Amino acid sequence: MRSLVRETRLTPNDFIYPLFVCEGEGIRREIASMPGCYNLSIDQLVREAQSAKAVGVRSIVLFGVPDDKDASGSQAYAEDGITQRAIRAVKREVGDVLVVADNCLCEYTDHGHCGVVDRGDVLNDPSVELLARTAVSQAQAGADIIAPSNMMDGVVAAIRTALDQAGFDQIPIMSYAVKYASGFYGPFREAAQSTPQFGDRRSYQMDPANVREALKEAALDVDQGADILMVKPALPYLDVIRAVKERFDLPLAAYQVSGEYSMIKAAALRGWIDEERIIVESLTSIKRAGADIVLTYFAVQCAALL
Ligand code: PBG
Repeated sequence: MRSLVRETRLTPNDFIYPLFVCEGEGIRREIASMPGCYNLSIDQLVREAQSAKAVGVRSIVLFGVPDDKDASGSQAYAEDGITQRAIRAVKREVGDVLVVADNCLCEYTDHGHCGVVDRGDVLNDPSVELLARTAVSQAQAGADIIAPSNMMDGVVAAIRTALDQAGFDQIPIMSYAVKYASGFYGPFREAAQSTPQFGDRRSYQMDPANVREALKEAALDVDQGADILMVKPALPYLDVIRAVKERFDLPLAAYQVSGEYSMIKAAALRGWIDEERIIVESLTSIKRAGADIVLTYFAVQCAALL
């Protein structure tokens, strides 16, 4: 009877599975702060995407971890960059998989900021130019969706224009429209080696105390042509997910970020909580709050539980 009257249902179709791709071959290096998550070389990434598909998870989002970083993040938009090669390999070798390309510079810059920096400040417009270039190179490699996560002003419009001009008018944009300057990204920065070398991201990411501003950020991205909106992190911001859902008609994604994942893993490893129960409960809550799509490192583990 409970299942008849249940209001929120999780299915593997709800999930996008984030994966970290690195140089090399045969590499499957566990991320210390994210037990069960790995830096994968391209061959291993292909295998991981295949096993995800086998349990019904057909969407992945890719984060590149290049060997060489520089001040302008040039590997982000290099034709043979790690992400571009990874996208090509997955699209070539795994059928029927949706590849979302995370669009940011922080994994590619030596200073770890999401854009270019001058005298300690992140410069918005020059960064946007490079991010639009990155988007085109990701689409050329075969990405199905471009997902700007950098929180630069005007980036959605710039990416839309650049994609259209390059003949990719069919490629949608999933905007990390509402991204908070959050402590919950800590483990990701270890995974992507993208911790800012100075300062923090508060000049471009949002203040956790604000929700009206979230609606403003989302409205700006809707105007600029976003096709899917995202709120991030997820569980500490369920009220924001609800507010964005009620205001806008676009599909809404929420990102259960690395810190959310690692807290559950850490407590479960100590036997303090029931891991499987909490995975399903936390993801159900995120959907109940209004998310249509959930990006989660638990995608494969949870799909197997459903
Ligand atoms: C930026 C980006 C970040 C995450 C996704 N895209 C990190 C940041 O802003 O520092 C974090 C995701 C997570 O914590 O799981 N490219």
